[in-house]
Amino acid sequence: MHKKRVLSGVQPTGALHLGNWLGAIRNWVDLQKEYETYVCVVDLHAITVPHDPKKLKENTLSTAALYVACGMDPEQCSIFVQSHIPAHSELCWLLNCITPLNWMERMIQFKEKAIKQGDNVSIGLLDYPVLMAADILLYQADLVPVGEDQKQHLELARNIAQQRFNSRFGNEDFPILKVPKPLIIKDGAKIMSLCDGENKMSKSDPNENSRITLLDSPELIRKKIKKAKTDQHFGLEFGNPSRPEADNLLRIYSIVSGKKRETVEEECSNIGWGKFKPLLADAIISSIEPIQIKYNNLRKDPEELNQILSEGAKKASMLSNSTLQKIKTAFGFFQKTYI
Ligand code: TYM
Repeated sequence: MHKKRVLSGVQPTGALHLGNWLGAIRNWVDLQKEYETYVCVVDLHAITVPHDPKKLKENTLSTAALYVACGMDPEQCSIFVQSHIPAHSELCWLLNCITPLNWMERMIQFKEKAIKQGDNVSIGLLDYPVLMAADILLYQADLVPVGEDQKQHLELARNIAQQRFNSRFGNEDFPILKVPKPLIIKDGAKIMSLCDGENKMSKSDPNENSRITLLDSPELIRKKIKKAKTDQHFGLEFGNPSRPEADNLLRIYSIVSGKKRETVEEECSNIGWGKFKPLLADAIISSIEPIQIKYNNLRKDPEELNQILSEGAKKASMLSNSTLQKIKTAFGFFQKTYI
């Protein structure tokens, strides 16, 4: 029997943070054992907002190395760079031509990011979710493990596949594109900023103290946790809407320490912030330490990383080109008969 397939990706727009790890990558690591798994570094997405060309390559390599360091095993999954597979851009164009503009204008992330860009909003930013749909549909993915913030984009990919492509160009009994399902694991699906428990932790937040990256040193982690926003209450608790910071930091503590919610509740309901923060910092530091060791070793060996990405690209290329051909045939393109 065929294994079901998983695809996901992260933008190389700076060091990955706790949200990327706990909301997404951590779940990929478990899934790769059971599913045929493809994970890409989505560098084409990273240029939808103004970017620094001097940093794109390094961010791409560092993101790929972090996938491996977090536990993605190149023997079990395919790791590749999105721009190395031209089928992503090509399918994006084809899907652009069947996706209504008003579907795109509804995208919450577009609206949020567009406000920040002012007059500089690019067509690429508006088109970003179509490129993401292309990423997913090319691999006929069954499941797409992401954080909560990507739910709307996944819904769009499903609608494009079903309502715009399969129903028009396919056949009800033999749909050409698989309609993917999001996999959002509640625990960790939305890690909030350290400076504001009501805003998500994000790579684009100009305040670096709002996030902990997977490459932060222990000293920096302690400093950031020390500065993290608190409240006036004694004792920490989960789920109190008037105490979003307590809920966020306790959730992070529970995941990185591997302790159950009830255990954490018991441990922290009768201690103040001053006692809790060093516990949290220690737990984050020890959970990230093995990732940093693996990361540093891999970065010392560029050949190995190159090899991993080259193997990943070969497998990704085969699968994505075969889907692209099916889509082009369904669209009615004149297929090339000459070399
Ligand atoms: P990106 O790069 O913003 O984030 C990568 C992954 O991390 C998750 N995430 C979070 N999870 C919990 N708490 C947070 N604070 C947090 N911040 C980010 C995201 O939900 C995501 O799963 N559009 C995607 C990248 C992408 C993609 C794809 C994903 C492009 N093509 C195809 C899946 C499939 C994005 O911008 O992720």
